[in-house]
Amino acid sequence: MTQDENRYSLRTFGRRAGRPLSTRQQSLVENLLPKINLPLESERVLDLAALFPAKREIWLEIGFGGGEHLAGQAARNPDVGFIGCEPFIDGVAKMLTAIEEDDLVNIRLHDGDAREVIEALPDASVSRVFILFPDPWPKARHHKRRLVQPVFLEALSRVLKPCGQLRFVTDVRSYADHALEICLANPKYIWSAMRADDWRQPPADHLTTRYESKRLGDISPVWFDFIFDP
Ligand SMILES: C[S@@+](CC[C@H](N)C(=O)[O-])C[C@H]1O[C@@H](n2cnc3c(N)ncnc32)[C@H](O)[C@@H]1O
Repeated sequence: MTQDENRYSLRTFGRRAGRPLSTRQQSLVENLLPKINLPLESERVLDLAALFPAKREIWLEIGFGGGEHLAGQAARNPDVGFIGCEPFIDGVAKMLTAIEEDDLVNIRLHDGDAREVIEALPDASVSRVFILFPDPWPKARHHKRRLVQPVFLEALSRVLKPCGQLRFVTDVRSYADHALEICLANPKYIWSAMRADDWRQPPADHLTTRYESKRLGDISPVWFDFIFDP
């Protein structure tokens, strides 16, 4: 395999490391991360009841970046178990800092590809999935690296609960079109928007992310919520 490939054939993320971690961050990666990282080494299906005792639902955030949204949702919803996936170690280190500072005991992490987590999740186990400002891969020759693809949606279908929700947000026009086309082509994903403001305005429960604040895209963000109807 080349450096650009993994067992999913193509990487959907860019770099895995940026600036050197601070001493505190390094210590969190060494000491806290092993305690809350998902046990994906074995071939076994994740035991969510053991990982999240007494949680009413499981929510999954894919590519949490600096973790602002994940930390905020976890604090707001202490009765929910959260799984956050992010291969960029600087983001993971920021997330670990928030987990420690805010004592967020309802979060488990995977410092890698979310598709590995989806494979290990039990059938019909996840109530909400967040994909917020995914890597846009704007060049046409890179579109195949975008996370949202027909095969990805099918993998998600196995783990979403009936009436579960997929939230996809982007500020890149061509990714918005791409994601909408792929999701609408799958009859199990029902776009819940009734009027333009439903996708033009942030949903009431949204928390602003770091990437969102940078306003790097070519359009105002669009919020697509899909209800899963198997
Ligand atoms: C543009 S950033 C946005 C981060 C964050 N959601 C925000 O809005 O600030 C996209 C993130 O998705 C992560 N990512 C890309 N592919 C992923 C995958 N297959 N699994 C998990 N994370 C992924 C990248 O590492 C990157 O940090």
